[in-house]
Amino acid sequence: MSEGKLVLVSLVTLIMSIVARSARFKNFVSSVFSEKVFDKDIIINSPTLKLTSHIPLQFESGNVSTFKNLKQTLRAFEEYGIRARDQNNILISRANGFDAIVHNQLRVIGYFDKLDGVQDGINRNTIVTKKIIKTILSNLTFANYFDSSISNDWKLEIKRLCDSFGYRIDEQSKVLVQIPDHKVTCMFNNPLSRVIESISHLCKDYSENFEIERKPIIKFIKGQLDKLDVSSNDLLVVPGSGAGFLSWQLATSYQNVKVDSIELSGLMYLTNLFAMNYKEKDIRIYPFVQFYSGQKNLENQLLEMHVPLERVKKPENLNPLWGDFTVYMPVSNKHDKIFVITAYFIDTAEDLIEYVKAIEALKKYCKKVHWINVGPLKYGTQPKIQLNGEELARLRKIRGWTDTFESYSNDCEGGLNGYLTDTNSLYQGYYGHLQFHSYI
Ligand SMILES: C[S@@+](CC[C@H](N)C(=O)[O-])C[C@H]1O[C@@H](n2cnc3c(N)ncnc32)[C@H](O)[C@@H]1O
Repeated sequence: MSEGKLVLVSLVTLIMSIVARSARFKNFVSSVFSEKVFDKDIIINSPTLKLTSHIPLQFESGNVSTFKNLKQTLRAFEEYGIRARDQNNILISRANGFDAIVHNQLRVIGYFDKLDGVQDGINRNTIVTKKIIKTILSNLTFANYFDSSISNDWKLEIKRLCDSFGYRIDEQSKVLVQIPDHKVTCMFNNPLSRVIESISHLCKDYSENFEIERKPIIKFIKGQLDKLDVSSNDLLVVPGSGAGFLSWQLATSYQNVKVDSIELSGLMYLTNLFAMNYKEKDIRIYPFVQFYSGQKNLENQLLEMHVPLERVKKPENLNPLWGDFTVYMPVSNKHDKIFVITAYFIDTAEDLIEYVKAIEALKKYCKKVHWINVGPLKYGTQPKIQLNGEELARLRKIRGWTDTFESYSNDCEGGLNGYLTDTNSLYQGYYGHLQFHSYI
């Protein structure tokens, strides 16, 4: 071999050995490997988190949550701390780029103290994302690991999963024990904004600060339900249930009626499950910590919200499901009435017609479907159609729906509603509501 070739081969060998030793590379290989042998097709039953190879009755046509989804969702929660810190660090390094005079002025006015304060808030939010991970891993472990009907292969995967998040399963006391010095590496392309949205929903759904946003929604929906005789042979269905306040409120208010909630996003669903299963005292969240714009001062940006989860227990009649509403089916087809409650949901559809058809398909499971809707018409990503309120009303009519109620609240003097709105901010977003109650 020529001397040049020898140098090249040695260089390549050296680079390969460095890459192979890096944690990121090892994680990547192990994730690809375990995906191939195990988690791709293993389905997770919700809300028990029991592993199964059978598609649950409610989603027989597919599009269900899998072990792989669970793993990736937990990873996104885990990466929150690093990604949020990195975003804050970018601001620090941009400010460091100014000349010495301006840099000193920024220091004197407290700009760098603010960014330190933000980091502190991120650290505190990270306590919550860690609690979410531990609670979900505990549920997963106890639903499967000590169950003799679960195969050893699956148990081994659960053990590996816990290990990869820095927990060891103590088989004697049946608890998860934290492994010291667990290192987090960012692997997936997890958008930070989605994780922030999910943990902020814990505030929106359960903290007193956002009671003002929940109240009008609950008031309208209960007002419509109470006009009818909601009985034990009925079913309440809440698609796109987010972190779960509405389904929880309804199940608590109508205890003799079964409530199925269906949520597609893993982040939202696991946040909901966490809220229902977290057994300790209240948690604290800083929902606006990385809202740098529109702030009057640091205190507002670091607003702390208490989320009293100890009062949020899953009622017996509530069945929170993880999956796609458009393929959801109730377990029984003998209901008198099914009430489909959509709050801030229909405008998230890529294909609104598909959502309408999914609601209408519930007619096979009851004598009458009632559809109660409240929320804006602010269409999301790549919608196929963007109907206005009147077009939607005409569509309901020609498809056989009868409206018993329809109204718009779009008066800026009091008819608008916030959605995770920072009421201290110089920029505040509010929504008008299209509210209707229709039956078929
Ligand atoms: C704007 S959020 C509203 C959440 C909740 N209704 C609330 O008011 O807090 C809409 C939710 O619908 C969920 N979603 C969208 N399409 C869905 C589908 N096909 N099946 C189940 N959930 C869906 C999204 O993941 C998201 O959590």
